[in-house]
Order: sequence, then C-alpha cells, then structure tokens
Amino acid sequence: MLTEIKEKLKKTLPEKRYIHSLGVADEAKRLAEVYGCDADKAYLAGLLHDCAKGIPTDRQIAECDRRGVSLDEWTRMCPPVVHSFLGEQIARDEYGVTDGEILEAIRLHTVGGRGMTLLDKIIYLADLTEKNRDFPGVEELRAASDKGIDEAIKLSIKRQTEFNMAKNAVIHPAALYMWNDLILNGDTKTEGH
Ligand SMILES: [Fe+2]
Ligand SMILES: [Fe+2]
Repeated sequence: MLTEIKEKLKKTLPEKRYIHSLGVADEAKRLAEVYGCDADKAYLAGLLHDCAKGIPTDRQIAECDRRGVSLDEWTRMCPPVVHSFLGEQIARDEYGVTDGEILEAIRLHTVGGRGMTLLDKIIYLADLTEKNRDFPGVEELRAASDKGIDEAIKLSIKRQTEFNMAKNAVIHPAALYMWNDLILNGDTKTEGH
C-alpha cells in the first residue's frame, strides 16, 4: 500500500515537494517513536500532508468548492493554508485514507487549531524540521523538537506570527487558538494580563 501511495504521490507532486514529503514522513515517524505516538500513522500522515500541492495555489479554493470542502473566511484570505484542507479531502478521495486521526493531522498541518492531538502536533512540527528544510532558525527548532514538542511548536508560532506581523499580513486565528491551548494546557502557563 505504501509503495502505491508513493508512486501516485511522485506522479502528482513536483520533485522537490515529493522529496519534502518523504522527509516529513521520516521525521514524523522519528518524533512518534520519541514521544510515544503511532509511528505508522505518523509516517502515512507525513507522506500525504502536502498531497494537494500538485494543484496550483490559485486553483485550490475553486477545487475546495468543487469538492464540497468548507473553508472559513480566514482560510480564504490565506492562500498558502488552503492546501491542508484540500489535502484532507484528496487523501480521503484519492488515497483511500479513512483514519480520522490521519485526516485531521493533514488538515491541521499549516496553522493548527484547537485541541491538537499528539499526532497533529508531530505532523505540524515535522513539516518544519524535516531534513531537507533550510530556513533561518531551523536548527534551533530541530533542537527544541527533541526537548519538548509543545515548546517547539510555541517557538514556531512566535516566529511565524512575528513574520506575518512584520509584513502587515493577516494572522490566521487558528494559529492563535493553538497558541492559547498551549499556554493554558502546557507546563509554562503564565498570566497573560
Ligand atoms: Fe503543507
Ligand atoms: Fe509540507
């Protein structure tokens, strides 16, 4: 089954994106073993997380509408986020994934959301830290991901929010829901006001 999925994915995605997907699958499996999550599910979710990226960004919203995928107003304003919602549907329709936990992890891998499971968090983080990724601060994020998954995700939300604010870009509220969840339920709760 995995071989068929890889062959189909390889045909669908640009080469660089396919290599990234393999990297995310490997890193998700590794993190699952470190943090006590199902490694096979993590591998499959990692492999398929960007399965919608074969569709050009400017056609993804129309494709969501065609397939009956509902997008909220914020997601419609953030084109780079749309592929995760479309990816959930494509994983279901075209790769035969029925496991709700895997589908959710694909859906939440871009901006996260409320009540993230360990699998959701692993895919979110592995997407950023897999071995082919290269951006300023990636090493710090990789090191953080081995110390604690919640702290690593907080670091990445801080960076991405600062980046978007510096550009005067919209902040997707799901990222803030995830941030608040981590603050309220994590080990480092502090008074916000
Ligand atoms: Fe993605
Ligand atoms: Fe990705």
